[in-house]
Amino acid sequence: MIVLVGFMGAGKSTVGRLLADQLGLPFADSDELIEQATGLSIADIFEGFGEAGFREIEARVIVEQLAGPPGVFALGGGAVTSTPVRAALVGHDVVLLEISLADALSRVGGDPRRPLLHRHDLEQIFAGRAGQYRAVATLTVAAAGRSPQEVAQEIAAAVVDPGAVRLDPGASEAGE
Ligand code: S3P
Repeated sequence: MIVLVGFMGAGKSTVGRLLADQLGLPFADSDELIEQATGLSIADIFEGFGEAGFREIEARVIVEQLAGPPGVFALGGGAVTSTPVRAALVGHDVVLLEISLADALSRVGGDPRRPLLHRHDLEQIFAGRAGQYRAVATLTVAAAGRSPQEVAQEIAAAVVDPGAVRLDPGASEAGE
């Protein structure tokens, strides 16, 4: 499966839909799956169950989806903080859409549907996540300052022709 990770506002869902169209694969978004499974909005889950409750539901939904048939899958920005999610990502093509905090905030800063954006320690959250994204990513793509179409194109090229952009840095040592 091709999995898109990165901070809120990186464009994971927009790019993911375009990429899935280009490759003729189904698309899924973890936040949408969570809302379908619970019948609640993300904001309501945070309010009713706290972040810890949200992460539990999120991890369950993601681990199940990753075990299913191939497709393009956009993860919520904080999904990589869950150990079971990081473990389940091993073996998948994990694409990090990289963006600065300033660029992310200029895109989605005022969105009331993203409760984490309003935390006073957002800078620490952003810094703490950077290492976790990089640890799971097999390909990193710059997400800011270019169109979602360009980003999707770059990912499609890397997936269809992995020789052109190495998707898994460890693969060539092991396999060639
Ligand atoms: C979150 C990101 C959101 C959503 C929830 C928590 C986070 O998804 O899962 O609000 O912790 O970064 P997006 O990255 O799609 O905005």
